Amino acid sequence: MKKLLLPVFCGVTLVVFGAWTILQDLPPLPEDPMAGARLFQQKGCVQCHSIDSDDSKIGPNLARVHLKGSLLDLAGAMWNHAPVMQLYMADLRISPPSLTAHEMANLTAFLSAYQYYLKQLGKPGDPERGKQVFQSKNCGLCHSLSPDADPAEIGPNLHGYSKLSPIQIAQAMWNHEPAMAQEFVRLGLPLPTFEGDEMADLIAYLQRAAVPADAEPVYVEPGSPNQGRALFEQKGCVTCHAIRGEGGTPGIPDLGHRRTELVRSVTEVAAFMWDHGVAMQDKMREFKVQPVRFEGNEMADIIAYLYFINYFDQPGDGERGKKLFSEKHCIQCHSITPGEPSIGPDLSRSTQVGSPIEVITVMWNHAKKMEPAMTARGIPWPRFEIGEMADLVEFIRAHSDNPGVGTK
Ligand code: HEC
Ligand code: HEC
Ligand code: HEC
Ligand code: HEC
Repeated sequence: MKKLLLPVFCGVTLVVFGAWTILQDLPPLPEDPMAGARLFQQKGCVQCHSIDSDDSKIGPNLARVHLKGSLLDLAGAMWNHAPVMQLYMADLRISPPSLTAHEMANLTAFLSAYQYYLKQLGKPGDPERGKQVFQSKNCGLCHSLSPDADPAEIGPNLHGYSKLSPIQIAQAMWNHEPAMAQEFVRLGLPLPTFEGDEMADLIAYLQRAAVPADAEPVYVEPGSPNQGRALFEQKGCVTCHAIRGEGGTPGIPDLGHRRTELVRSVTEVAAFMWDHGVAMQDKMREFKVQPVRFEGNEMADIIAYLYFINYFDQPGDGERGKKLFSEKHCIQCHSITPGEPSIGPDLSRSTQVGSPIEVITVMWNHAKKMEPAMTARGIPWPRFEIGEMADLVEFIRAHSDNPGVGTK
């Protein structure tokens, strides 16, 4: 099993991903949050920010700041606070760090992936509530949790689950859902669905209720989104489900626009899949494909993929971006039409505005010079709300002569 233990941030064990590959068309997946972690040190962020329980630093604790929105919003939060950060940097005689688009991507991947793990681990299930779920969903009718249970029981004994991680338990449920569904029908019971934390609580109960005395804590194994991307094809999900219009079968949900449902904790996403499991199995039978089963870390990988693809999926709206370009005063210094006079660089000619992350990176890098230019003209520092940065960036890219230049 591929599991690399990392330096521990707030006692959380993270897993390494590979390297950012795609910055342009496909939503980038955080392949290398650990490169981001190194940048966090190298670029001096760590001098003022902590990402663990230490609150004694100058800047906000980035583990406590709830970084909402997409990757661009995260980069946008850096931009929003740039002038204040620069003042503190001047105090400490640190020069504001310049970043390449690649570095910005890895840095924000690190911070967002960090949030991902917090999200997963921040919500350990409550075994007491899980016990109620176990009873109210009738699990006890067919399963017992004690090792010496009645052999006449309908379902397998579940006492071994103290040794599996939450996602592996959810995976076992998924794999056995078709067979269980038949038993439910036979006994005239409704197939349970799960809401909110119910799945997490149930799993916590299964893990703890069984307790052999030697039980060690089982870590969440965060999946690899890149592995998940490959599995999404290998397991045939892509035959039925498009990701933002790519692949899929009409009438079956596109999983690239499921932010509300899929940017949630791993157990919530697993529960969401369970809830749709029977309908999916029916479809699989109709399409004459094998029921999808998962092994090892596969379900975790798929869920990580679905999470990140939705996390990064927030295409901006160029029309709204156009309004922002004037409301935020960019228009006072930047031409967006070739040949028009421009105090700052003519953005239609800029070679540095290929991908969204590039635009925001170059804004960050030039913040140091833009700020005094704005102050001199009485222009307040423009700040962006969630979603606005994506809109603005979309507008700028659409008006550039050089789409895609300089991505590398
Ligand atoms: C010299 C100290 C200093 C350094 C170095 C620094 N920051 Fe900051 N940072 C701050 C302060 C102070 C704030 C709060 C600014 C404000 O209130 O406007 C802040 C705010 C932020 C925020 C916004 C948090 C929020 O509440 O939304 C982010 C994100 C951030 N910094 C990321 C970074 C990253 C990434 C780096 C490294 C590239 C970095 N900072 C380097 C001092 C610093
Ligand atoms: C109507 C009887 C029935 C009910 C109620 C039921 N199950 Fe099952 N369960 C089964 C059967 C039968 C199997 C074995 C299915 C198979 O062979 O694929 C099974 C398999 C499982 C497995 C996989 C076991 C293994 O061998 O790895 C898990 C985990 C599980 N059930 C959990 C639950 C949970 C949690 C509930 C309550 C939400 C529940 N079951 C409710 C009948 C039931
Ligand atoms: C044979 C076609 C088919 C395959 C293969 C398939 N699904 Fe589905 N899936 C469906 C259908 C149909 C629905 C809608 C079910 C419903 O309405 O309850 C669905 C629903 C879902 C949902 C809930 C979506 C929503 O917004 O309601 C998720 C998540 C999901 N599938 C994930 C997957 C994953 C991951 C795979 C691959 C491991 C997969 N599916 C493979 C047909 C399929
Ligand atoms: C007060 C004038 C002023 C305002 C307002 C202003 N900028 Fe700038 N901008 C500049 C100057 C001057 C530079 C060049 C700075 C440098 O050389 O580091 C620049 C550089 C840039 C660059 C880098 C272009 C390149 O190719 O190097 C981008 C992108 C940019 N600005 C975007 C924006 C956006 C978006 C806004 C509105 C949120 C904005 N600017 C508001 C003056 C301004």
